[in-house]
Amino acid sequence: MLKVYRLPALTCIAVATLAGCHRTVLVATAPAGGLAPTPPMGWNSWNKFGCRIDEQLIRGTADAMVSSGMKDAGYRYVNIDDCWEAPERDANGNLTTDSQRFPSGMKALADYVHSKGLKLGIYSSAGTGTCQRRPASLDHEVADARTFAAWGIDYLKYDNCNNQNRPALERYKAMGNALKATGRPIVYSLCEWGRNKPWEWGRTVGGDLWRTTGDIRDSWDSMLHILDQQVGLEKYSGPNAWNDPDMLEVGNGRMSNAEYIAHFSLWALLNAPLIAGNDLRSMNDSTRAILTNRDVIAVDQDWGGMQGHKVRDDGELEVWVKPMSSGDRAVVLLNRGSTAARIAASMSEIGLSGARHGARDLWTHRDTTVDGELATTLAPHSAAMYLVHH
Ligand code: GLA
Repeated sequence: MLKVYRLPALTCIAVATLAGCHRTVLVATAPAGGLAPTPPMGWNSWNKFGCRIDEQLIRGTADAMVSSGMKDAGYRYVNIDDCWEAPERDANGNLTTDSQRFPSGMKALADYVHSKGLKLGIYSSAGTGTCQRRPASLDHEVADARTFAAWGIDYLKYDNCNNQNRPALERYKAMGNALKATGRPIVYSLCEWGRNKPWEWGRTVGGDLWRTTGDIRDSWDSMLHILDQQVGLEKYSGPNAWNDPDMLEVGNGRMSNAEYIAHFSLWALLNAPLIAGNDLRSMNDSTRAILTNRDVIAVDQDWGGMQGHKVRDDGELEVWVKPMSSGDRAVVLLNRGSTAARIAASMSEIGLSGARHGARDLWTHRDTTVDGELATTLAPHSAAMYLVHH
């Protein structure tokens, strides 16, 4: 399917390659009405809770997603990660829920989450067991997809553990086909850690998003390590086909507030799925303020033809830019280092002509004018984020 993109001062037709188009846009061949026209937003149990999950946590998280204002800010998916499964399949060979942790069953939980205007996600692996050695879906794809659909599941994260060294494309395609065959719209999140370049084939197996790396940890170094692996992947993402640099660690306590602001700014610039990984029921005001920053979320949810990418690397100081559909530029100025530093980006570096432009600081929410360069002094381990008008 061809789709026409109007980029600033330029019209591209998205096909496999784009001769004559200075931005390569490989994306958006997904059919209209796909399940993830913008990067999915929600929450997932893994980063904070690991295997310590039960139905009270999931219900409480759905409640908190509404009461905290996260639902109003755009968050929808409440995603259960590993460890929801009973240790064995049932007598009919079907996946079944751990009845100690989820005594009301998954259908009742889905009904509850849906009653809040939210959606329920679940997890399995394209292997013989999950990463925590619960039953998983390899060679059970059709039955398991039907089970998920019957429960009212809206999103599947599909992991890569215990995969028996079978080809990834075949394993992920089997589940993609099985999900489609259920007739239920279920967002399909591939989690093979970037091992087999899923950005090259994820959409062909029905994937709406794909992890690009191994697991994030709640540390500045881990966040930057993942960031560095996003360089060059920008041309592969687009509506219904998002690069996923893993879930957020904002609010989990091992990074500073400034580091979490940088993490959230960068993930938004990358059009990453915004899947919170903290305890929504007890988060403090600064965590909530980061996760619900609508100016930043608007950058994540806008598609201007390419996800944000690094335009300058001075070692500790970096400039990242994302074209917005309006022609504006979202810009993140990043200080990775441990001393304060001044950083400046010229208008041509960020893709704008002329010297004077209106701009908005997306963390202070102040409007300002830039003349020639966008400059600021950044504290150690911090970032600033702006929208510079065209
Ligand atoms: C893998 C995934 C993580 C998480 C765990 C659960 O490591 O990459 O995101 O789902 O498995 O066991």
